[in-house]
Amino acid sequence: MIKVTIDGRDVELEHPVTVLEAARKAGIEIPTLCYFEGLSPFGGCRLCLVEVEKLPKLQTSCTLMTADGMVVRTETEQIRAARRSMLEFLLINHPLDCPYCDKAGECELQDLVARYGPEAGRFAEGKRRHPESFDDPIIVRNMERCVLCTRCIRMCSELQASYSISVTGRGSHSFVEPFSGGRYDCEYCGNCLTVCPVGAIMSRLHRHSYRPWFVEKETETVCGFCGVGCSMVLQMRENSIIRAIPRRGVGFNEGLLCARGRFGYEYVEGGEELTTPLMRVDGELRQVSWEEALSFTARRLGEIRDEFGGGAVGAVASGRCTNEDNYMLQKLMRFVIGSNNIDSAARNYYAPAQIYLERIFGQGITANLIPGIANSDGVFVAGGDPTAINPILGLKIRAVWRSGGRVVVLGVPGGLKRFVPYELIPVPYSEEIVLSAIVGRLLERKPPGGANAALEAKLRDLRIPSDDELGSTGVSPEDVARVSEDLSSMSTPVVVIGPDMVQRRRASKSLFLLGAIAYLTNARIFLLADRPNYQGLLDMGCLPELLPGGRPVELEMFRHKAEEALGMKVPEQRGLNLFEMIDGAESGRLKALYVMGENPVFNLPDGVRVEKALGSLDLLVVQDVHLTETARLADVVLPATAWPEKEGTYTNLERRLQRVRKARRGKMASYGREDWRILADIAGRLGMTKTYQRVEDVWEEVMHVSALHTGLGYEEMDGGRALWPYYGEPLRGMEGDFTVEGLDGLPEVPAPERPYLMIERPLYHSGTFSRRSKALLAIQPGPYLKMNPELARRHGLTGGDKARISNGRGVLELEVRLDDDMPDNQVHVANTFEGFAAMRLAGFGTDPVTGALYMDDNTVRVEKVLR
Ligand code: SF4
Ligand code: SF4
Ligand code: SF4
Ligand code: FES
Repeated sequence: MIKVTIDGRDVELEHPVTVLEAARKAGIEIPTLCYFEGLSPFGGCRLCLVEVEKLPKLQTSCTLMTADGMVVRTETEQIRAARRSMLEFLLINHPLDCPYCDKAGECELQDLVARYGPEAGRFAEGKRRHPESFDDPIIVRNMERCVLCTRCIRMCSELQASYSISVTGRGSHSFVEPFSGGRYDCEYCGNCLTVCPVGAIMSRLHRHSYRPWFVEKETETVCGFCGVGCSMVLQMRENSIIRAIPRRGVGFNEGLLCARGRFGYEYVEGGEELTTPLMRVDGELRQVSWEEALSFTARRLGEIRDEFGGGAVGAVASGRCTNEDNYMLQKLMRFVIGSNNIDSAARNYYAPAQIYLERIFGQGITANLIPGIANSDGVFVAGGDPTAINPILGLKIRAVWRSGGRVVVLGVPGGLKRFVPYELIPVPYSEEIVLSAIVGRLLERKPPGGANAALEAKLRDLRIPSDDELGSTGVSPEDVARVSEDLSSMSTPVVVIGPDMVQRRRASKSLFLLGAIAYLTNARIFLLADRPNYQGLLDMGCLPELLPGGRPVELEMFRHKAEEALGMKVPEQRGLNLFEMIDGAESGRLKALYVMGENPVFNLPDGVRVEKALGSLDLLVVQDVHLTETARLADVVLPATAWPEKEGTYTNLERRLQRVRKARRGKMASYGREDWRILADIAGRLGMTKTYQRVEDVWEEVMHVSALHTGLGYEEMDGGRALWPYYGEPLRGMEGDFTVEGLDGLPEVPAPERPYLMIERPLYHSGTFSRRSKALLAIQPGPYLKMNPELARRHGLTGGDKARISNGRGVLELEVRLDDDMPDNQVHVANTFEGFAAMRLAGFGTDPVTGALYMDDNTVRVEKVLR
């Protein structure tokens, strides 16, 4: 125990900390400027000076470690004079443009000068001049205001690990600049903006349009972009979002956000939101009243149910909607219409992967804490770039590297490129062979311990590829040996699984192999989720085979429990999944589809086929915020409120339930309504007697129906106590009941002459929502065709050229962007921008074991477009 005295107060410390931290622990505030919690100490501003007995001069408390018996004073006349002098030095060059500076009112320098002086500066010389830089569309730099605290640089290198900015120049000509010059070529997380104490770097989004004291309301909520579920504060003025900011101490993202979370919110007030229901009249969508739209929808759904049975109706739920919205959609389908045909885009990979892993290991297998990744000594990533799909989770992987751990990536490493010691990029669709070889090596090094008999039995039947068989994958036996050596040397590893490992033929085998790697190395598993509520979709029963709480609908015991809880009947057979519903629409078996917050025409592969199938339905209802490609085909379009306009909950990929809070009214007062409310209205018109006044009423019912959520109210969530395992009962006894396709075989590795089209999941965009955010569009304005320079050369292309990619399903013309890190057998396109649906060109099938989507036959012809 270390005992120190600070301002006469005795402080006891278990471990040595800095004097600044010891003082804060004792509730004594020492002023700082270059210090920022979570960043390494810099000791540059000398504002945190303190007197320490027996030390000859004033000391910087942010760098001085405590020692037993130390006696410290933090506010003496000498200290105040020193602080005043330091501030006077800073003001030699800092302009006195507070009336013009957007930071005024929340500027740390302004506050310090107000507290310590000087009242007037003594330097008559001119201040340094440096023109404000508007080279960047998002970040404006005013280096005259920079106090060189380096907080931004430490943030960018230590926590963001982007290493994009540095101090350039010498003496009074030292400025913070991006390495890329005027415009930033970085991850645009904006975390440097959070830490800048003055107005030297600021967002351009609302430049000169408000003052910090104009903020009328702050709403603490959860980001609506991905499955990490970062906490954020929406600052509001006149019903408009001024800023989305993180707050240290709120949420587990520790004051960090990514580009989408920080700048992407504008899509909710871009002016393109649907304002009134639409109905198809004489082939055209026309504005109608809510009453007309709702009564038509309910009447047609009822007629189709009565004529063809509930099984002729299906629904698509949404990973962007809340648990309450999704619960209500499944209730409408299952209990009111009598159809288990409910699924979502989580079918693409997340839901089948989750269910399959739970079959191997038990419910909650991926319920691991994101912050805990940073404490691991190694990470194995397969199937996607975590720094783009789930950026804040990706930062934890970078943190593992910073603390000396190993990061191994199977596939294109993307944002982890500089953190991997070697690359391991198999030929597309040969990953299964590489994974089998890794498991084979691991079995030699780490024989299984008998904890999972079913898994071990299957491992005994696993065909381990020979070195020759490995040859077709592009990964050498030496590479495999190295990976398995790295994996077996890790004592607290993490396995991160992304979509590309699931969207393969024989997804069951890839998932089994990844599960086996986790099992043999005793790793925690994380499943990347590119929507905020994919996990909630599963938990709320938005799957054809699972009731709320993840209970199989085909098991009588669970069905009866749900029926008892609600007093309503549910069909006995599992329903159709998303792709079976498309098939059903095509064949005429499915007559009506209710799509909530999803855009299948754009987001599913082979969009022409999907469009045709949806076009042949008797009734297509789309409930969404915008008029999407799918909504344009609908018979009825119901406008719904967006994420900051509603109350409810999301469940993130670590199974954390968090409150989504309403920050703005949106157009709800007169137009759009919360999704659950629209659904409850339609269900009521179809005979449901239960009514709901508030979103809390819906959640209370979830707690009643889902054994997983028993006793888990909003109060528990507000207290941060809604983290798996919940108070309810997990589903046990199903684990071990799984099959693996092709365990004793190896796939043929295709060797097509044409490159594969792979779907890029970009850092700056997210599905089709982000394309309505002006800021994200300023960072990445449109689509491009990413390819290796060698591949480009072979097609007579270079960066900036226009290329045409085509196959039997469609044609796209895109600007070429060269990327040395890309393999030369694939091209990448983001599926985001209107008119550029890359998924339309991808062929697909569904894996018979997991029900996951797999990409198939997705090679493309690449040609130069002659201007
Ligand atoms: S926005 Fe993020 S990546 Fe870019 S310079 Fe700032 S901290 Fe670095
Ligand atoms: S730009 Fe801001 S955070 Fe960066 S060194 Fe200057 S004052 Fe500090
Ligand atoms: S990591 Fe995900 S949840 Fe966090 S700010 Fe980015 S998009 Fe939002
Ligand atoms: S805060 Fe300690 S030297 Fe700057």
